[in-house]
Amino acid sequence: MEQPWWLSYLLAIFLLRLDTKLVGEAFQPEFAEPLSNLTIVIGRDATFRCLVQNLGGYRVGWVKADTKAIQAIHVHVITNNHRVAVSHNGQTVWNLHIRNVQEEDRGQYMCQINTDPMKSQMGYLNVVIPPDFISEETSGDIMVPEGGTAQVSCRAHGQPEPRVMWRREDGADIIIRHSNGSKTQVLMYENAILTFNKISRSEMGAYLCIASNGVPPSVSKRIVIKVHFHPVIQVPNQLVGAPLGTDVTLECYIESSPKSINYWVRDSNEMVISSNKYEVVNTMMSSFESRMTLTVRRLEKTDFGGYRCVAKNSLGEVDSVIRLYEIPGPDRIKDLSTVNNKEDYKFSTPLEGPDNQFGSAERSDDEDDKEIFTDIIKVTLF
Ligand SMILES: *[C@@H]1O[C@H](CO)[C@@H](O)[C@H](O)[C@H]1NC(C)=O
Ligand SMILES: *[C@@H]1O[C@H](CO)[C@@H](O)[C@H](O)[C@H]1NC(C)=O
Repeated sequence: MEQPWWLSYLLAIFLLRLDTKLVGEAFQPEFAEPLSNLTIVIGRDATFRCLVQNLGGYRVGWVKADTKAIQAIHVHVITNNHRVAVSHNGQTVWNLHIRNVQEEDRGQYMCQINTDPMKSQMGYLNVVIPPDFISEETSGDIMVPEGGTAQVSCRAHGQPEPRVMWRREDGADIIIRHSNGSKTQVLMYENAILTFNKISRSEMGAYLCIASNGVPPSVSKRIVIKVHFHPVIQVPNQLVGAPLGTDVTLECYIESSPKSINYWVRDSNEMVISSNKYEVVNTMMSSFESRMTLTVRRLEKTDFGGYRCVAKNSLGEVDSVIRLYEIPGPDRIKDLSTVNNKEDYKFSTPLEGPDNQFGSAERSDDEDDKEIFTDIIKVTLF
């Protein structure tokens, strides 16, 4: 039951008067040191320690200064806050304990001695709260078309007010485009809201928003921003010449988001799939870039012609043609192999003359003293 505030007050006055009469004025009590200010994380326990000399028959009381609520007098807890307790060593040490500290406990606390006039000193209890995200105001993963505007937000509460910082998970800079047209690049961006104007594919990725206020632990949230665009193909060599009997690798570079389906098609519209003849490899180079290669083994007349690399995603389709044509092979070379197939090397002799610049020669460990060509000869016209 809540007791009326004035009841505590009267009780306090009564005790003060009584004690003053009992002990007289011979030795005046003194505080031995100031009360410490306390900074306590919510849920932990706080203890104010009041050190008194020459207490004699006087009594020590505790009051919360802002509400004037009497917490304790001497060995008795007055407040009906059951988290409050007192302890003492009988004379010099008088402790006020607050268990499981809550926000409403924040404030000035006064340690009083019932001398006349009363002596008191104050200490501040600061209650701090580690940061926590406000889920309704914190974004999840998003998808935006390239060139559009993306906005992600991250808000956290805590005491003191947390700072919110953004950074990219991959450690790259964040590009901030200002409304006046200028842009700045930063590793960390401090704001609850991160806006991308005219977002580009290079800004796609995972972003971390980190909230901290000096009270551990800091919290972080990972937000993935996906940028969608029509696939694009780049072909380093659109004309590839190779001699009969050699292996040749064709390559195309794709940028696509969402991820595209990539495949190769011959002139005849026949899809090329991995076999003894062909090796088809797709390698992701980043979240939206991939390399597709097609190796055609032991070239025959029928292998020459057009090869189309095709990339298809939900936003569209793109293709590019590579022409594979025959060039005369040096007679002495009976077999040329690609880097990928070292175990297939049979034999070969060094290629002399200017053609050398098109391939790289390398010594193989498992072949005695024979120069092995490890690269195909690739000639780009024009
Ligand atoms: C407690 O904080 C107050 C200001 O808030 C300051 O004046 C006082 O000196 C501090 N007490 C101690 C013991 O540091
Ligand atoms: C554009 O605005 C940003 C902040 O709004 C400012 O830092 C920058 O200096 C401005 N640049 C120009 C060229 O006015």
